[in-house]
Amino acid sequence: MAEVVFVDSAEHAGELVADAIAELVAAKPDAVLGLATGSTPLSTYRALAARHLPLGSVRGFALDEYVGLPPGHPQSYRAVITREAVVPLGLAPSFVRVPGDDGGPLEGAGERYERDIVEAGGVDLQLLGIGSTGHIGFNEPGSSFASLTRVKTLAARTRADNARFFDSPDDVPVHCLTQGLGTILRARHLVLLAFGESKAAAIAAAVEGPVTSSVPGSAIQLHAHVSVIVDEAAGSQLANADYYRAAWASRLPWERL
Ligand code: GLP
Repeated sequence: MAEVVFVDSAEHAGELVADAIAELVAAKPDAVLGLATGSTPLSTYRALAARHLPLGSVRGFALDEYVGLPPGHPQSYRAVITREAVVPLGLAPSFVRVPGDDGGPLEGAGERYERDIVEAGGVDLQLLGIGSTGHIGFNEPGSSFASLTRVKTLAARTRADNARFFDSPDDVPVHCLTQGLGTILRARHLVLLAFGESKAAAIAAAVEGPVTSSVPGSAIQLHAHVSVIVDEAAGSQLANADYYRAAWASRLPWERL
């Protein structure tokens, strides 16, 4: 079962995740982080940046990327990861990868990305947000739990959700490259964050609903080490909330995320 932690704010969540990353990097300076985009991981990046940790040997692999944006487009996930994570955290730009950024053809980009993750030793800690369709990465409902990095077509709802970042809804790309659910499940520790009422149904379905490809986030139930960190609003539809609170409040001294 996932460990579910209630926090009072995104900032508090960011501090908890920064603690986990700081501990990981202290033990393994060349740790591999799975990086996420969207608004959800921003408090984690801010908390980490404030700690000025030595992260120059850390490697990073982003979850996903749009297909078809002009190089350098400010909403490309390459640009977002550079702006929000690489620069403030002091990561080495050449150690941080985004799907499709190796200069090779789109065809085969997923397989090459998978090979590069494996060659780096696999992801130690994967940050995840969740979309309103229940997607993680850009794995829309119906994605196979065995899927690896590949090109996907975005759901209409996801394009509408992400239209706020573009001048016009029509400018949101139709395709993306995303790590698969199978890729995500290979990471050693999954940290799923969610804030706000709009995530409540997706979080309840992912954490407590049936394990089904109709809710890609429910794949986390197949992983042995998952931390789900939610604010009160995002956790408001969790049936077992009292149990999660009690378990976290009575955690043993050595227990971490
Ligand atoms: C996008 C990303 C996901 C992210 C989701 C939620 O679709 N591909 O990785 O989890 O948005 O975004 P936000 O964190 O802004 O709510």
